[in-house]
Amino acid sequence: MPKSALITGITGQDGSYLSELLLSKGYIVHGLIRRCSSFNTSRIDHIYADPHEQGRRLVLHYGDLTDPTGLRRVIETAKPDEIYNLAAQSHVKVSFENPEYTADADATGTLRLLDCVRDHVEHTGREIRFYQAGSSEMYGAAPPPQDEHTAFYPRSPYAVSKVAAHWYALNYREAYKLFVSNGILFNHESPRRGETFVTRKITRALGRIVAGLQDKIYLGNLEAKRDWGFAGDYVEAMWLMLQHHEPGDFVVATGEAHSIREFLHEAFSYVGLDWEKYVMVDPRYFRPTEVDYLLGNPAKVREAFGWRPSVSFKQLVRMMVDHDIQLGEQDRMIQSTRYPSEVSVAAKA
Ligand code: NAP
Ligand code: GDD
Repeated sequence: MPKSALITGITGQDGSYLSELLLSKGYIVHGLIRRCSSFNTSRIDHIYADPHEQGRRLVLHYGDLTDPTGLRRVIETAKPDEIYNLAAQSHVKVSFENPEYTADADATGTLRLLDCVRDHVEHTGREIRFYQAGSSEMYGAAPPPQDEHTAFYPRSPYAVSKVAAHWYALNYREAYKLFVSNGILFNHESPRRGETFVTRKITRALGRIVAGLQDKIYLGNLEAKRDWGFAGDYVEAMWLMLQHHEPGDFVVATGEAHSIREFLHEAFSYVGLDWEKYVMVDPRYFRPTEVDYLLGNPAKVREAFGWRPSVSFKQLVRMMVDHDIQLGEQDRMIQSTRYPSEVSVAAKA
């Protein structure tokens, strides 16, 4: 029998890479998606399988981490061997604006899912291995480098919610002897990164600047440092955690940190531009409490399962810039074909 996995947050950056990885390994992949008034599946459209297709290996279920009865039903239907809980309101700045919703989805949502797993395991006798998507944001103000022994010091409602989820996961591991692992992942990016996170915001704007569609980009704090890796590498670490002989808590990071300024320099100089001519600082993007410096020590994952990042900082920046230059060019073509008709309609109105 092929293994089966349930991925919450399958429509996100990590969910899309993880689905590809698991499908390539022969898994049947179940994904939880939210009902939305517009399509939210663009990152997984290339692997989508029509429900009428015989033997399809990607199955999507409507559900939401805030809806426990729905979660229970999905687990009973999918009967997964592994669950990857990636769903979250994942934007730190937004969590200051919607703190209660963030706590409900990210902290209590994890608890709901764990409780469904506990009951399912108890009444069926099946094993379900569970991955919880923890974050380096949980370290917050703790001085770098951070590893599995560093005490958490969360600095946002998002980070506090992830700390709660981390401890719920650990408690369910100890209380009910469930195979539950916490990944503590440092920032990971890709061409599929959401466009409001700083790396993608920069490369997307750069693509449009090169295409002649804009000449400014507004950012917040340029001094913060992050340990940025490639998302494709990080989903492999998630899978490895659930194949390990015992559950645990694992930091996944590159061990190298760069500031936003350095990211800007790397991206703009790659296309021969001086970033300082295009970037404006707008305080609206400052956070009430900032996380200044995240730098992970990935020694434990290296030793436990030989995991290493395969993409360097420079390669990551270039991969994202290359992608977004193409997208900028597409935007330019769409705009140049649309604009004349819009102008003539406006003129007639
Ligand atoms: P992402 O691109 O923002 O994706 C988040 C996913 O969660 C989307 O599929 C979203 O669905 C779904 N979601 C949001 N709220 C939900 C809810 N109430 N119920 C069900 N689904 C919901 O995030 P990501 O970068 O892939 O990150 C994956 C996970 O790892 C998140 O938990 C994040 O907090 C954590 N993490 C990320 C990083 C990183 O650097 N990327 C680092 C550490 C930890 P829609 O598409 O419908 O919005
Ligand atoms: N988003 C954003 N937009 N961030 C900006 C901007 C801006 O215009 N200007 C400066 N920054 C700074 C932020 O203040 C922060 O210090 C840094 O850039 C990174 O911000 P994000 O890219 O939004 O990521 P994050 O580090 O806050 O959170 C991401 O990584 C976490 C892991 O450490 C998210 O993916 C979280 O979900 C994840 O847990």
